[in-house]
Amino acid sequence: MIFAYFSLLIFLSLQLLSSSCASIGSNLPKSDVDLLEFPLNLEYMEAEFFLWGSFGHGLDSFAPELADGGPSPIGATIAKLSPLIRDVIAQFGFQEVGHVRAMKNTVEGFPRPLLNLSKEAFATVMNDAFGHQLEPLFNPYANDINYLLASYVIPYIGLTGYVGANPKLHSPTAKRLRAGLLGVESGQDAVLRALLYERGRANVEPYGITVAEFANRISELRNKLGRHGLKDEGLKVKPTVGAERKIRGNILAGDKYSLSYDRTPEEILRIVYGSGNEKKPGGFYPKGAEGRIAKSYLGLGGN
Ligand SMILES: *[C@@H]1O[C@H](CO)[C@@H](O)[C@H](O)[C@H]1NC(C)=O
Repeated sequence: MIFAYFSLLIFLSLQLLSSSCASIGSNLPKSDVDLLEFPLNLEYMEAEFFLWGSFGHGLDSFAPELADGGPSPIGATIAKLSPLIRDVIAQFGFQEVGHVRAMKNTVEGFPRPLLNLSKEAFATVMNDAFGHQLEPLFNPYANDINYLLASYVIPYIGLTGYVGANPKLHSPTAKRLRAGLLGVESGQDAVLRALLYERGRANVEPYGITVAEFANRISELRNKLGRHGLKDEGLKVKPTVGAERKIRGNILAGDKYSLSYDRTPEEILRIVYGSGNEKKPGGFYPKGAEGRIAKSYLGLGGN
């Protein structure tokens, strides 16, 4: 009896071992590999932004093997945060490390791309969102509210990408990974939105502009850059845009059925490059994103 039990245990652990090895070798269809690889660009950015913001150092200290020889991010620094927000962002940072690890255990991926996380890169997004230069320049690292607004810029883009890629995936391994990433990514977005919602009427200093107005402008900018209609909504909307066309408060974004919006890799590149053009890198990715999908727009004939 005991012998049978142990044989069963050994059998089970061998099964586990072989299934995890098989996944690294990647028997996934090529299109699944491309689709799984693409968001690694975003996960690297989130990992670095959240780790740097909360701890003052990033993947190079916490998991150098995951950076995989890629260049260190430009301009990332520790943010001036209250204990609660620092705690939340530190958790997000480690969650993103897990995401990068999970992706690189499943597909070969690529080394960390060059990321521009300087305050100027975020200031450019905010200037574009308002259509004029904010004085003084917006500093994402200055305080809780600024950091939360800067963070509002990121996980939501990943979320829409995960929703968009889902119907295109073939293998159960890819679908399982995607669902797991989507769940936590949308959780992060919800936490950020809730924290901002609570501060909606507060002013972003020294501009005298409310948090809700900032969030609306950022969402409008993403709609404009993505060039695919309404896929992004601020914290307060016209009642006709709210859930069941009945309510202005918009703590979570969703379509007319309150289902998450989807975005294609092209739409995502237009937004994170800040250029509105998947062939024109810039913004957070000065040299462009990595992986076959992003690279296909940066090829020789790519401009
Ligand atoms: C980072 O972004 C800022 C703002 O767009 C830009 O001025 C700076 O040159 C960028 N740095 C690099 C190395 O691309």
